[in-house]
Amino acid sequence: MESVQAIKQRFGIIGNDPKLNRAIEKAIQVAPTDISVLVTGESGVGKESIPKIIHQLSHRKHGKYIAVNCGAIPEGTIDSELFGHEKGAFTGATQTRSGYFEVADGGTIFLDEVGELPLTTQVRLLRVLENGEFIKVGSSKVQKTNVRIVAATNVNMFEAIKKEKFREDLYYRLSTVEINLPPLRDRKDDIHLLFRKFASDFALKYKMPTVKLNDDAVNLLLKYRWNGNIRQLRNVAEQISVLEQNRSINASTLQNYLPNTGSTLPAVVSSSKSESDFSSEREILYKVLFDMKSDLNDLKKLTMELMKNGSASDVQKDNEHLIQKIYGNDNDDDDFENAVEDLEVLSIPEHSEVNESVSSDVEDKYHFAEEIEEEETLSLQDKELELIKKSLERHNGKRKLAAAELGISERTLYRKIKQYDL
Ligand SMILES: Nc1ncnc2c1ncn2[C@@H]1O[C@H](COP(=O)(O)OP(=O)(O)OP(=O)(O)O)[C@@H](O)[C@H]1O
Ligand SMILES: [Mg+2]
Repeated sequence: MESVQAIKQRFGIIGNDPKLNRAIEKAIQVAPTDISVLVTGESGVGKESIPKIIHQLSHRKHGKYIAVNCGAIPEGTIDSELFGHEKGAFTGATQTRSGYFEVADGGTIFLDEVGELPLTTQVRLLRVLENGEFIKVGSSKVQKTNVRIVAATNVNMFEAIKKEKFREDLYYRLSTVEINLPPLRDRKDDIHLLFRKFASDFALKYKMPTVKLNDDAVNLLLKYRWNGNIRQLRNVAEQISVLEQNRSINASTLQNYLPNTGSTLPAVVSSSKSESDFSSEREILYKVLFDMKSDLNDLKKLTMELMKNGSASDVQKDNEHLIQKIYGNDNDDDDFENAVEDLEVLSIPEHSEVNESVSSDVEDKYHFAEEIEEEETLSLQDKELELIKKSLERHNGKRKLAAAELGISERTLYRKIKQYDL
């Protein structure tokens, strides 16, 4: 069995933290089996190396290894991507197509961001995990496949289960063995080591002398939260390597590259001079406007529900998540109490005549709101398009980074790219 050190060398993994070593050791141990593995950890901690290690050290290493980013595939096509489709299964299905589970027969599939899978796809996935069976979209023929699944997530799966976004049975099936990668802030001894490695790589790449941190800068590096983990550390090392004339870096220079994470403001309001942040107040205001528009739409939905349903408590029960989204999570919060009270005030009597007058009255107002929204939507859409374009440019078209910067999911970004034909 290859040693942890040898594996780190082979897969370019830097660090000596005991929790990192334990994670790699677990990957080595579980690799020769066909057990499903769930890799967990914050964004940027290096989850993607684990499935590669598992595949390479398994008897499937000569079979296919397919990595699927579940969050980046639109909901409408994900079943067909994963399981294939029959000719004529939907508009545009001009030919029968094999999905990843068929193509990877005998190999390994890495399901990245598995928490993003739609519930219907989760049902299909559960079946494959249980008996290797799947059915192409638009077909009735059951097919068999022999695929090892490694999944990864940076979201709290228990939360997702609680919110009924992820099936509990699937979670337990996927996470027969769980491999957790620690956040960078918990790997203090590795932080400077990683920085030095990245600084030396970038010095070589850009043909410049290696940047060096002084003691104060090292202290700052160790104290920082690194919410983006190793990915963020690498970006900071790259920016400093490219931009700083003086190759000896002190704490105040380093500080310029570290967004202020103590704040609860959105990431766009950052003290960093990094190019990847929105710099103008105008852009920040547009972001706030988008959020307000989203709240307004949620409120409209709630009002419509109330008009249709008439019972505040039913509406409250059915729309708990919306109410919490608009008024916050804390049930003891005054706003939440007020919201509930407001719902009760708004409840519409059963009597049909009253119903009619109230609803036509509300309907008028609703039309008014619609018109305002139309106007707003047009100009906001332009701005939204502008924001998305800029963000994609800044990140060389990398959707994941752009989505993170814009504060939306990759799938939402994908939809918007299609919507605006970008
Ligand atoms: N221990 C490490 N040594 C060297 N580079 C690393 C290490 N861990 C991660 N990286 C680098 O950091 C970057 C982010 O890693 P990776 O893409 O695996 O993150 P992730 O955990 O999959 O994040 P996300 O949840 O956002 O997808 C990659 O460029 C990877 O090569
Ligand atoms: Mg990843």
